[in-house]
Amino acid sequence: MNKDNISIVILAAGKGSRMKSPKAKVLHNISGKPMLYHIIKASQEISDDITVVIAHQKEEVQKQMQAYFDNINFVVQDAEKFPGTGGAMKNVKAKNKKVLVLNGDMPLITSKALQGFLELDDDVIMSIFDLEDPNGYGRVIIKDNHVQYIVEQKDANDGELNTTTVNAGIYAFSKDVLEKYIPLLSNDNAQEEYYLTDVIAMAKNDGLSIVPLLVDEEHFKGVNSKKDLADSEEIMQDRIRTHWMQEGVIMQLPSTIYIEEGVAFEGECILENGCRITGDSKIINSHIKAGSVVEDSIMKNSDCGPMAHLRPLSNIEDTHIGNFVEVKKSTLKGVKAGHLSYLGNSEIDEGTNIGAGTITCNYDGIKKYKTIIGKNVFIGSDSQLVAPVTIEDDVMIAAGTTVTSGTVPSGNLALSRTKMRLIQNFYYRFFS
Ligand code: UD1
Ligand code: CA
Repeated sequence: MNKDNISIVILAAGKGSRMKSPKAKVLHNISGKPMLYHIIKASQEISDDITVVIAHQKEEVQKQMQAYFDNINFVVQDAEKFPGTGGAMKNVKAKNKKVLVLNGDMPLITSKALQGFLELDDDVIMSIFDLEDPNGYGRVIIKDNHVQYIVEQKDANDGELNTTTVNAGIYAFSKDVLEKYIPLLSNDNAQEEYYLTDVIAMAKNDGLSIVPLLVDEEHFKGVNSKKDLADSEEIMQDRIRTHWMQEGVIMQLPSTIYIEEGVAFEGECILENGCRITGDSKIINSHIKAGSVVEDSIMKNSDCGPMAHLRPLSNIEDTHIGNFVEVKKSTLKGVKAGHLSYLGNSEIDEGTNIGAGTITCNYDGIKKYKTIIGKNVFIGSDSQLVAPVTIEDDVMIAAGTTVTSGTVPSGNLALSRTKMRLIQNFYYRFFS
């Protein structure tokens, strides 16, 4: 695709007060990535000239986006003097003759959904949809098939409020239109803001053609509240799951499975109900059982769960992780850890069996230390491995042992227990 026909401006400077959150609206996550990330990603597929307008929490918004993208222009809105979506456009300088303006709170947009704006060549193209419940959106007033103006909910009279045709919040303007009308906007309205939407009425009154483009809510939904955030998350999750099922992943009760953007699957993978896979996890030929959580980890030819937790930077291969096992920042190759364990900051090698209740004591209250376990080691149940510790190949650790020695050399049995005693008839004496 030719990406130098169109400039894209993304408005991301607003507070988003309706979110009732200390966090800037566009930084709220959908499927593990900020809303603004999703919209920039879609924009990059159609344009090389992308400008993001920031103001509220501008350093944080810029910093987070720069971690994902280079080649984005950031423009700061003077939100004190010129608040509103029109004020946001004041300092923008677009390269190309055609400028697509997107609200930053539309995480469900895709490059495909934007095609309609690229194909038409009018002074103004604006997106509309019809909603049963138009609450929160600007109403689009159309007469004789021509757009007359847009009125914001807070400024609308009863007749206008009954209009169910709303402004979806995406526009393609010719650069000339923006240069002419943005300086002419006023803030004479209920919110005392400069509304970008007022450009429409001005252009119409000057006889320019305003083309309404009917779009679908599934792609053009705006997020203004936490309820919208949750609704959009469901749509995004459905897309992510559908994509991976098409790529060959087996999912049992898919609607209960949560997969973040950034997770990848290869080969034949099975995901049981209620599992959650996040970050940059990579799952290859593996089976994740019910209720398990896998965060930023790699699984290859392995299985985990039910109810297992792979925390960030775990890398397991040819390994069985059973129920109630937590693994963190550890590499396990050819290992069995079937039940109730915590394995943190560890490296565990082939043929090793980790008994039920084994704990790596990796933290002394100040620092974290490593546990290294070699090949063919048998760790008995309910053992504590006090790190830093190295257990060499071919070692047995007796059940209930607390390993504190630093190194257990090959061939040894380590055993630390108090000797068991039998006290005859104690039970009967005690309860008599
Ligand atoms: C806007 C439209 C409304 C449309 C709706 C679609 C205006 C005046 N209204 O309303 O007609 O139905 O989108 O979703 O444009 N922003 C800035 N600077 C500001 C204010 C907002 O950059 O000073 C950004 C926000 O960060 C946000 C976007 O513009 O990403 C839209 O702002 P928002 O306050 O959500 O506008 P709506 O009230 O939803
Ligand atoms: Ca909005």
